[in-house]
Amino acid sequence: MLIRFKRNLEKIAMGLLSFMPEEKDVKKLQETIREYEENDGWHLHLWKEDDDVLGAVGVQIMNDNQLVIKHLTVNPSHRDQGIGSRMIAEIHRIYSDKYNIVPAESVKAFYEKSLDAL
Ligand SMILES: CC(C)(COP(=O)(O)OP(=O)(O)OC[C@H]1O[C@@H](n2cnc3c(N)ncnc32)[C@H](O)[C@@H]1OP(=O)(O)O)[C@@H](O)C(=O)NCCC(=O)NCCS
Repeated sequence: MLIRFKRNLEKIAMGLLSFMPEEKDVKKLQETIREYEENDGWHLHLWKEDDDVLGAVGVQIMNDNQLVIKHLTVNPSHRDQGIGSRMIAEIHRIYSDKYNIVPAESVKAFYEKSLDAL
């Protein structure tokens, strides 16, 4: 299930975000996590199964009607089990009433593939 990110999960969230191609640089990664902690328009959600956090999906609310999926990442040991697609489906369930959802460039190919399966 998706849970909202909290500061006590910062290390695990940063570990997951670091799998994103644009978050390889530690300084950039620290800036990103700070946005999720401090910016009201940035929401980070974590995928939890039993007691394990296995994935992360981060969104940015751009304006009254648009939301961008900025980050989507799954622990490499748990890929190809549908977690990434389930996170996309959950983001749609949570936000699609209010926002037009669009993927960031790096998420686009996977997002479009997942939407076809929804
Ligand atoms: C992309 C990612 C989140 C997918 O998570 P996942 O839980 O393995 O996804 P699912 O199990 O729901 O789907 C797996 C399918 O997506 C495909 N896929 C993986 N990455 C993809 C990508 N960047 N573009 C398109 N398809 C992709 C897999 O090949 C697999 O295809 P298949 O079902 O035809 O075999 C995961 O590979 C990841 O964390 N990658 C590193 C982070 C990253 O690069 N994020 C940016 C892209 S979203």
